[in-house]
Amino acid sequence: PSIDEWTGHNRMESKLRTLLGIREVKIVTGNSDTNDSVKELLANEAAKQFTASIGDGKLVAVTGGTSVASIPNYIQPFTNGEELHFIAARGGIGNDIGLQANSIAATFAKACGGTYSTFYYPESLSEEAHEVFKREPAAIEMIKQYEETDCVIHGIGDALRMADMRGTPEDVKRLLQESDAKGEAFGFYFNEVGDIVHRITTVGIQTSQLEKVPLILAVAGGKAKAKAILSYMASAPGQTILVTDEGAALAMLEKL
Ligand code: G3H
Repeated sequence: PSIDEWTGHNRMESKLRTLLGIREVKIVTGNSDTNDSVKELLANEAAKQFTASIGDGKLVAVTGGTSVASIPNYIQPFTNGEELHFIAARGGIGNDIGLQANSIAATFAKACGGTYSTFYYPESLSEEAHEVFKREPAAIEMIKQYEETDCVIHGIGDALRMADMRGTPEDVKRLLQESDAKGEAFGFYFNEVGDIVHRITTVGIQTSQLEKVPLILAVAGGKAKAKAILSYMASAPGQTILVTDEGAALAMLEKL
């Protein structure tokens, strides 16, 4: 990239960091909506941020999705990698293997030379069944782990797109539309001002626990995701590092 491109990026990064009120923003060149190779740049930058910032952290929780799934491909050997233990940021189901948080945790562990544990939890439980399931020893253990998490690496999705992909029932989709849901992360759906308007019934990291996590890496790019990223960032913890691309960054700056 030319010097102009670099200074342009630096200015955009610091402007966005201030406007979003978070620790850091890193912007890679291009728009991942129209160019698949930009997803790889995002993953590479996220891998760099992760290995440079994890310090002596031990427990890392990851979410599902393509953006997070690509990161392990770019992790270079680093000190402390073998000390790391990876878990899913929320209980998931066994299908959609490869893009699901449990299998992504395994891929991260392999790339770092660390360890992982899996946590399967049905996502379509009634409130009554969930009340019972979440008292199972495996669920209690996960809730405890979320209290001790040192780092979270997560994607951000467009709310209605995520609802479609998950085969969400029509009444819930209507609720999401009526409540003007824009973004999704960790199974939480957020409106424009960052309020949670819906959550998937599961055992996962809670926003109150997230507040206490020292290192949070959000990885999301593409112009089409700008509104979703802004809605999540409206209430994101201040220690968040956002890795995004020019497509999303420019569209966010236009809206702010
Ligand atoms: O939670 C958000 C989604 O997992 C994002 O998925 O990275 O494939 O767009 P994606």
